[in-house]
Amino acid sequence: MVSNMPLTQLRWGLLGTARIHERLIPAIRATPRGTIAAVASRDGARAAKFARQWSIPRSYGSYDELLADREIDVIYNPLPNSLHAEWSVRAAALGKHVLCEKPLACTVQEVDRMREAAARHGVVIQEAAMMRFHPQTAKLRELVAAKTIGELRCVRGVFAFVLSRAGDIRFDRALGGGSLWDLGSYCVSFMRTVLGQESHEVHGWQQSGPAGADTSFAGHLRFPNGVFGEFFSSFETCPHIEADLLGSAGRITLDVPWGSRPDAVSRIRVWSADDSGPQGTFSDASDSLRYEEFAFERVNAYCEQIASMTATLLDGAPPVITLADSRANVATLEALARSAAEGASVKMQAPDERSEEALKKGQAPREV
Ligand SMILES: NC(=O)c1ccc[n+]([C@@H]2O[C@H](COP(=O)([O-])OP(=O)(O)OC[C@H]3O[C@@H](n4cnc5c(N)ncnc54)[C@H](OP(=O)(O)O)[C@@H]3O)[C@@H](O)[C@H]2O)c1
Repeated sequence: MVSNMPLTQLRWGLLGTARIHERLIPAIRATPRGTIAAVASRDGARAAKFARQWSIPRSYGSYDELLADREIDVIYNPLPNSLHAEWSVRAAALGKHVLCEKPLACTVQEVDRMREAAARHGVVIQEAAMMRFHPQTAKLRELVAAKTIGELRCVRGVFAFVLSRAGDIRFDRALGGGSLWDLGSYCVSFMRTVLGQESHEVHGWQQSGPAGADTSFAGHLRFPNGVFGEFFSSFETCPHIEADLLGSAGRITLDVPWGSRPDAVSRIRVWSADDSGPQGTFSDASDSLRYEEFAFERVNAYCEQIASMTATLLDGAPPVITLADSRANVATLEALARSAAEGASVKMQAPDERSEEALKKGQAPREV
C-alpha cells in the first residue's frame, strides 16, 4: 500500500510499451507535479530498452513487479482493452491510482469490478478519454445548455482512418478490438456528454474483419429528449474526423472533435438564427444565420488530461469522467455491438418502461 501521507508529487508507473506512451510521457513531464518512475513490459529487455529511450529510471519485466513498486503512486494503463479491468483492479488492490485508456472496459461487469476495487481501496480510477479534458468540450456543453442553436435535434460524428499495421490489437476481438470500441467510443462519449443524457435505444451495423473485430461500424442512437445521434467509425477509410450538432435554430461544427492538435488551432463554429432571417417551410437558405467561432490555440488534450488527473489526486478536484459515466459509455457500446450481432435495435430503458413498450408493440424488446 502507498503511504497515508498526503501526496504532493505523483510518481507514475507505465504499463506496457504501448505506442500511445509517446503522447503521455511528454504530458506527464509537462507538469511540475509528476515524474515517471518506472515502465514494465511482458518482456524485460523491451522494458529496459524503452526505459533507456525515454530516460525512465526503473524498468520491470512484468506488470506485477511494477505494481509491487512502493515508490509509485499512479499507474497509466494503456494495455489492450481486454486487459484494462484486470490490471486496473490489481493496481487498485495495491493502493495505486489508475489512469486507464478508453474504453474503460469491455463490459459493464468489468466496470463494476473496477468501481468496487476503487471504493474498497480508496483510490481513483479514471478513464483517459482525452477529448473530454479538452476545454472545447466544456465550451460546447455550455453552448448547448444555453440553447445557442435552439433545441438539439441531431448529433453526428465520424472517426476513421486506414489501419494498416498487421497484427494490431485493434483487429483482434479477443483483445477488445474493433473500430466501435477504439473510435466509436469517442463518438458515443461525445454524444452523451454534449446531451447530458443516456440513449434509450440503439441500432448498429458492422463490417467484420478476419479476427472477429469490426473494421467499420455505423451506429444510430435515440435519446429521451427526441435527439438522434449517428456515427461512423472505421479502420478502412481515408483519415477523417468530423462532428456536428443540428438544432432548431442553428448548427455547430467542430474542426478537431476527437484529436489533440497542439500544433494548430481547433475551432467550434456556430451558425445560429437571429430571428431576422426568413422562416417557413421552404426557407433552406443559411444566409440569415449569424456566424460565431470559438478558437482553442495549441491545446494539448493529453496535457489537459494529466493536469486534471493530477488535480484530482493532489488537490481533491472532482474527476472529469466518473466511473458511472464510463459505465454508461460501456453499456452503450455493448448495446451497439449486440445490435450489430443480432440485427435488431436494442432498447436501453429502465425495466418498467421496457415492459410497457413491449406490451404496446406486442413484442419483447431486447434489453441491456
Ligand atoms: N487516448 C488516445 O488518444 C489513444 C490513442 C491510441 C490508443 N489509445 C488506447 O491505448 C491503448 C493502447 O493502444 P496502442 O495503440 O498504444 O497499443 P499498442 O502499441 O499495441 O500497445 C499495447 C501494449 O500492450 C501490451 N500488451 C499486453 N498484452 C498484450 C497482447 N496480448 N497483445 C499486444 N499487446 C499487449 C504491450 O506491451 P508489452 O509487450 O511491452 O508488455 C503493448 O505495447 C488502447 O486501449 C487504445 O484504445 C488511446
